[in-house]
Amino acid sequence: MKIFKKILLITLLPIIFVAMIFAVKMFGTEKSIDGKDQEHIQKYIDGKDGEHIQKYIDGAYYFDGIVIINKSYPASENYAPEQSPVAQNAFEKMKNAAAKDSISLNIVSGYRTFDYQKQLYQKYVERDGKQLADTYSARPGYSEHQTGLTFDLNNASDDFAGTKEAQWIAENCYKFGFIVRYPADKVDITGYEYEPWHVRYVGKELAKYLYDNNLCLEEYFGIDSCYKD
Ligand code: DAL
Ligand code: ZN
Repeated sequence: MKIFKKILLITLLPIIFVAMIFAVKMFGTEKSIDGKDQEHIQKYIDGKDGEHIQKYIDGAYYFDGIVIINKSYPASENYAPEQSPVAQNAFEKMKNAAAKDSISLNIVSGYRTFDYQKQLYQKYVERDGKQLADTYSARPGYSEHQTGLTFDLNNASDDFAGTKEAQWIAENCYKFGFIVRYPADKVDITGYEYEPWHVRYVGKELAKYLYDNNLCLEEYFGIDSCYKD
């Protein structure tokens, strides 16, 4: 009987230990860059190169705690974080600094819901066809605007390229935690045409690193941005 108990204990202990580790990973609390607690971890995967940690939390993908939505990493219809106040405050600081250089910056589009993006994309598909629309407008669930960390500035059109405002943003936005998300020299990597008006908040540290090293988020995390179909 004693031996039986011992064997039972030796068999059960590692199982209990593994179950505890699993439970911590499943129900642990994660902090995203805007400081919100993220709970209910559904999936946990080590990054491709082992350097970055990829997680899927409440309908969106995170790499090292940075939420990513692109053509390869969609968010669910239910992912609705609203406008990030952290990104909004960072924008206000950037706007004030720009004004001192006689540069006027205004938000024309910020947080977008899945449904709103669906309407926008549909409108562009009807106007230009799916193939062309896919080069400049995200399908519903694939728009970074759904993160609440992204802004389109000023007129958000091709006329913006080459303006003094576009130049100011390109040279200074990293100081406030933003990146120009779809640069002219990264079209094949991001999957989108050049959008000098579209900035994404990633926090000051990462923004500076990406700026200093001329990297887009896909290059930094070693990930793709392409639709499956
Ligand atoms: N214009 C960007 C790609 C969007 O639709 O989110
Ligand atoms: Zn945009």
